[in-house]
Amino acid sequence: MLVSIALTALAVLPSTNALVRKDGVGKLPALGWNSWNAFNCAVDEDKIMTAANEIVSLGLKDVGYSYVNIDDCWSIKDARDNVTGQIVPDPVKFPSGIKGTADKIHALGLKVGIYSSAGTETCGGYPASIGVEELDAATFASWGIDYLKYDNCYVPSNWTDQYVGCVPDGTNGQVYANGTCSIDNTTAPATYDWSTSNTAKRYRIMRDALLAQNRTILYSLCEWGQADVITWGNATGNSWRVTGDITPDWPRIAQILNENSFQLNYVDFWGHNDPDMLEIGNGDLTLEENRSHFAFWAAAKSPLIIGTALDLLPADLLDILKNEYLLAFSQDATFGKPATPYKWGTNPDWTFNASNPAEYWSGQSENGTLVLALNTLDDTAQREIIWSEVPHLETKHYQRDAFEVTDIWTGEDLGCVPYGLNKSVNSHDTIGFLVGNRC
Ligand SMILES: *[C@@H]1O[C@H](CO)[C@@H](O)[C@H](O)[C@H]1NC(C)=O
Ligand SMILES: *[C@@H]1O[C@H](CO)[C@@H](O)[C@H](O)[C@H]1NC(C)=O
Ligand SMILES: *[C@@H]1O[C@H](CO)[C@@H](O)[C@H](O)[C@H]1NC(C)=O
Ligand SMILES: *[C@@H]1O[C@H](CO)[C@@H](O)[C@H](O)[C@H]1NC(C)=O
Ligand SMILES: *[C@@H]1O[C@H](CO)[C@@H](O)[C@H](O)[C@H]1NC(C)=O
Ligand SMILES: *[C@@H]1O[C@H](CO)[C@@H](O)[C@H](O)[C@H]1NC(C)=O
Ligand SMILES: *[C@@H]1O[C@H](CO)[C@@H](O)[C@H](O)[C@H]1NC(C)=O
Ligand SMILES: *[C@@H]1O[C@H](CO)[C@@H](O)[C@H](O)[C@H]1NC(C)=O
Ligand SMILES: *[C@@H]1O[C@H](CO)[C@@H](O)[C@H](O)[C@H]1NC(C)=O
Ligand SMILES: *[C@@H]1O[C@H](CO)[C@@H](O)[C@H](O)[C@H]1NC(C)=O
Repeated sequence: MLVSIALTALAVLPSTNALVRKDGVGKLPALGWNSWNAFNCAVDEDKIMTAANEIVSLGLKDVGYSYVNIDDCWSIKDARDNVTGQIVPDPVKFPSGIKGTADKIHALGLKVGIYSSAGTETCGGYPASIGVEELDAATFASWGIDYLKYDNCYVPSNWTDQYVGCVPDGTNGQVYANGTCSIDNTTAPATYDWSTSNTAKRYRIMRDALLAQNRTILYSLCEWGQADVITWGNATGNSWRVTGDITPDWPRIAQILNENSFQLNYVDFWGHNDPDMLEIGNGDLTLEENRSHFAFWAAAKSPLIIGTALDLLPADLLDILKNEYLLAFSQDATFGKPATPYKWGTNPDWTFNASNPAEYWSGQSENGTLVLALNTLDDTAQREIIWSEVPHLETKHYQRDAFEVTDIWTGEDLGCVPYGLNKSVNSHDTIGFLVGNRC
């Protein structure tokens, strides 16, 4: 009986990540910088090298940020090389070619990323990789590329999906209060296996092309959460976008946090949900919103890809990006699972709500349990963290159990704290604690 259960369990094991690598690349969420949120299409070697040099001089390299990623619009727009068929770097934007820029980035001890799309053109209308995946992967490898962000624009008509899937952005279908998708606007039968979809195939072709190179290239899927990517992302790439694009404003960040909070079972070592790149330093976020954005992206074990002009970064934001407790949680070598909500707070548990997502989160780490409490309201409010409610904290005596606590924002050792913490929290701010041994 036991044996047959074991065999059955083996048979239904989900396909493992095909990008598990001996060098460990992709096991933990990627840390780096990308040009898009700061510069959109106006990218060039100067801006890329400014970012790379700032990553070093601001100490971001020392705390783990390593990728410098060139997003869309880096090539000549209307043609490939008519002899080799390769994409041609724009000689005005990148006078030393992508290879020349990559060499300079590597000389700083950093890694370099590039961008393409699983379609006929990139989102900006530049040459993209469908049908020429092997050539492009080989070209990227020959330039010394370490990371590919692979977008989803200009999909040829014969590659579109048979069914419409659900993305809880509200773009395709409705979402129930429990976070599951309605099938009102998803046309797939409930039993449909999305790993057989054309979207999954398009992304697997590039995966195989990257794996055929004599170089580790981290594979970041950017297909906006479509085609139920959470169910096949881990077998295909190192990270996968779970929503549409982020914008630098609190309503969108709260909306994405809400959507991601219902999909965190799909995150562990080697495979990470990507709720899109960081907007810290962009738009009109308050200090509190900057802080909450970073805290929850780190706690969810998202890739942490900075998207702002680093030479203009205010000191308080640099401190946020370098927060040692959140980065340690993100990069924990022992615990691969993200923090998850344990109580919604403002709304009843499991409420899917774009403006007021789950407020109370916790996750295990090498040094204890990370506990975060967010105030989603527009006014200052009290947030009560009660030890007996927090998963992973073993409490026996509701009132008397006490734990060693460190404040993750100030680094202050709060000593042995009984019962829990009850704090006033500004609008859209997050309090956070590393809760260690019982005392
Ligand atoms: C993804 O695949 C890796 C490698 O097999 C595995 O360790 C990890 O647990 C998988 N993630 C999830 C959420 O199952
Ligand atoms: C190929 O490209 C080169 C350089 O851009 C150009 O001079 C040449 O005319 C092109 N040849 C053809 C056949 O298009
Ligand atoms: C779409 O057409 C291209 C070019 O003919 C072909 O290589 C590709 O396999 C087709 N896609 C599908 C899903 O059949
Ligand atoms: C349903 O999905 C289609 C295709 O993406 C979209 O055009 C339409 O607006 C959606 N309808 C609703 C009610 O979400
Ligand atoms: C989510 O809610 C819908 C609508 O009430 C219900 O049909 C579905 O079974 C629920 N799913 C889960 C996993 O609770
Ligand atoms: C692969 O790359 C390594 C290191 O760059 C090199 O030593 C080796 O010869 C390459 N192997 C092949 C088959 O190209
Ligand atoms: C938070 O980030 C915004 C940009 O998103 C920036 O303008 C603002 O200065 C930051 N707030 C503080 C207090 O640093
Ligand atoms: C645990 O603490 C050690 C020593 O301070 C530190 O190096 C490590 O990054 C921490 N890990 C986590 C996950 O907090
Ligand atoms: C989201 O939650 C807030 C706070 O409970 C509530 O006022 C709002 O109506 C909810 N939004 C939706 C669309 O249900
Ligand atoms: C938390 O503080 C608020 C405001 O001071 C108070 O109303 C509430 O009773 C406190 N809760 C606990 C459990 O002490």
